Amino acid sequence: MSDLFVTGIGHLTTNEGEAMVDAVVKVEDGSVVYAGPGSDAPDQGPSPRVECEGRAVLPGFVDSHTHLVFAGDRAGEFSMKMAGASYADVAKSGGGILSTVAATRDASEDDLFVSAAIRVRRMIAAGTTTVEIKSGYGLDLETELRLLRVATRIGNELPITVRTTFLGAHFVPPEFRDDRGGYVDLLIDEMLPAAAPLADYCDVFVEEGAFSVDEARRIFVAAKGHGLGARVHAEQLAHCGGAALAAEIGAVSADHLDHITEGDAIALADAGVVAVLVPGASYMMRSPQAPGPMLIQHGVSVALATDCNPGTSYFESTGTVISLAVVQMGLTTEQAIHAATRGGALALGMEGHGAITTGSAGDLVVLDAPSPVHIPYRPGTNLAWKTIKAGRVVAGDQSPG
Ligand code: NIG
Ligand code: FE
Repeated sequence: MSDLFVTGIGHLTTNEGEAMVDAVVKVEDGSVVYAGPGSDAPDQGPSPRVECEGRAVLPGFVDSHTHLVFAGDRAGEFSMKMAGASYADVAKSGGGILSTVAATRDASEDDLFVSAAIRVRRMIAAGTTTVEIKSGYGLDLETELRLLRVATRIGNELPITVRTTFLGAHFVPPEFRDDRGGYVDLLIDEMLPAAAPLADYCDVFVEEGAFSVDEARRIFVAAKGHGLGARVHAEQLAHCGGAALAAEIGAVSADHLDHITEGDAIALADAGVVAVLVPGASYMMRSPQAPGPMLIQHGVSVALATDCNPGTSYFESTGTVISLAVVQMGLTTEQAIHAATRGGALALGMEGHGAITTGSAGDLVVLDAPSPVHIPYRPGTNLAWKTIKAGRVVAGDQSPG
């Protein structure tokens, strides 16, 4: 928790009202105490200072959907898919989620931490200040708990806020191939109670071949009993009813949504469920992007996330995802930046994050560019000149000034 005076901001995105030009931000004890015109700025005091020289500043990115703790990679599978292999071909060759499960079960807690921390450091360097991390590559009690402990340790040891999600219902593990009901029972009776103290949320992959709407409903009811809010992997590969379920149970978020209908969108808006869109996964799978503009039109709050995982979306950079959302999904730059900051905070129930206003967290990105339009306009370039977490410069040029 630090003090910082950020001056000479050429373009300030506050997420409250219009963007400002020629602005300053003052952070005290990790929180914003002033964001406004330089001419009305409070006394600078003795705090360290960042002089932006006309650069743009926006809230730190809130990446509200990742699976970033895993072992191994699936580069071979990627090559097969690019050469036209189907999902079934990949599964037959031993690929898919279960290949990452096998590698992850074999990995030690320290090795999982080290590889995940490397990814998260790159995320921080690219402007991310909050990240959600799911389990889901263990699919047995011991490994799922190991993944949640690693995710928690990331938040304790790195300058980033972490929210954790139990995704034991990611896939039916091989040892339960002929007894999926047995796995759902195990999830509810043993895994959820043990995971709940380490998790903020419970997620279920609702899809043909993963879990049905009825199985997911049972799991979410049990999760609620353990105090866990619901997030749903919904309508990713086909329309399966996950979004309607999210609305029915009052989930915090419904994620992916590539195959969502207008009726679902209205239900999500009415129920106040945040739509977490992950354009990186659609891009990598060569599938159509989720209908972001339609969701916004119906009044759904939209978040953008990387979905960082080794199978369908090995993206660490929220900036690149913003570019995909603008170029391929059709969001405006303002909508995409709002979704990757304030939208992410709403998707994680984090009041006071994803904005730069009095009382909000002092989590900021200074871009090495004069306006946020450079983010979608220059994909692949890390434009985060400095990442600031709770008033402290934690990446980029780390001298305060
Ligand atoms: O979000 N949809 C399910 N889970 C991941 C993919 C996981 C994997 O392929 O390893 C996703 O796309
Ligand atoms: Fe996902």
